[in-house]
Amino acid sequence: MQLINDVSVKLKRYEKEICECINRVIQSGWLVLGPEVERFERSFADYHSSKYCIGVANGTDALELALRALGVEPGSKVATVANAGAYATAALSSIGAVPYFLEVEQSSQCVTLESVKTALDSGVDVVVITHLFGRVVPEVTQIAAICEQRNVPMLEDCAQAHGASLSRKLAGSFGNIASFSFYPTKNLGALGDGGAVITNNRAYADAVTQLRQYGWVNKYEIGLPGGRNSRLDAIQAALLSEFLPNLNIWNDERLSIALRYEAEIIHPLISKPIVSQEKHSKPYVAHLYVIQTSLRDELSAHLKEHGILTDVHYPIPDHKQEVIMTSMNNVNLPVTELLAETILTLPCYPGMSESQVNHVIESVNSWKA
Ligand SMILES: Cc1ncc(COP(=O)(O)O)c(C=O)c1O
Repeated sequence: MQLINDVSVKLKRYEKEICECINRVIQSGWLVLGPEVERFERSFADYHSSKYCIGVANGTDALELALRALGVEPGSKVATVANAGAYATAALSSIGAVPYFLEVEQSSQCVTLESVKTALDSGVDVVVITHLFGRVVPEVTQIAAICEQRNVPMLEDCAQAHGASLSRKLAGSFGNIASFSFYPTKNLGALGDGGAVITNNRAYADAVTQLRQYGWVNKYEIGLPGGRNSRLDAIQAALLSEFLPNLNIWNDERLSIALRYEAEIIHPLISKPIVSQEKHSKPYVAHLYVIQTSLRDELSAHLKEHGILTDVHYPIPDHKQEVIMTSMNNVNLPVTELLAETILTLPCYPGMSESQVNHVIESVNSWKA
């Protein structure tokens, strides 16, 4: 079966380097935080021309600890989209903060300036924007500017957009603080869970550094409430340092697959994402290649018959997640809700062979709805 993302390709390709990293950490005897984590934090900060990077246990913790560093507390009102897998919403729910859901634009599936303006007018304390599927939010520059004008901090969720950039600025360097996930299938993925927060603000960096380790200001002395254990382990950090120099190359591999899909998938019932390109930037790094069709389930079944697995990112908008959202009945997000019914993710990952890409294109084009 063709998977949407086959991590085993990377494991085989880099087996020697992976074993060397793991052995180096074993020899060092330092397994959690420590020199390997500091080395990765420095290189990831430098990659973004950011002053600080703090490694944490996963991308959801990165969101939560960054939100806490911004001063989000129980009852705070925080703007976020409802079509990005509920990770920010889960982080808000852990804090006891209240989400204010933002509408997205149908083609890019990203948050709009207009919806952020409405949220700011209604008095949100923080704005979270998500660079979804590897696409830098097209209006991010204007959104960052209006948040700054209104003195409302902006957090960028970059879990799907490592190395993406717009007008020569990397995702993660537009707002006040940014969160990343290094889940194995991400554009920069570890071989387990991992995450990071980057920022240029010393106070935010100090807060996240304390919060990832029980809120300790000194060993065994809790200086901040809301802390937990969210440390990055040394093996993941060593692997991430090894993988980081490949990030741009892997993003190009993803992009070349997306460009082939854009040029060669031709079907009247399918709309394709715009694979936008700039001379000096990568506004879309093809984390996920997500098409739209009103007959999504039929297309998915057709592809399965041809040995191709697809997925839906994401089938339930956050405000429809009954367990965490009990009082969201009056939320009106028609575009978000339509997308949840019509989106379908096709396979796209570094190392996907030309014949595998050909097979996906031919199978989609042969669909008789
Ligand atoms: C947009 C987005 N934010 C946050 C996360 C959470 O990351 P993690 O799975 O590492 O907790 C993910 C992961 O899938 C994500 O896609």
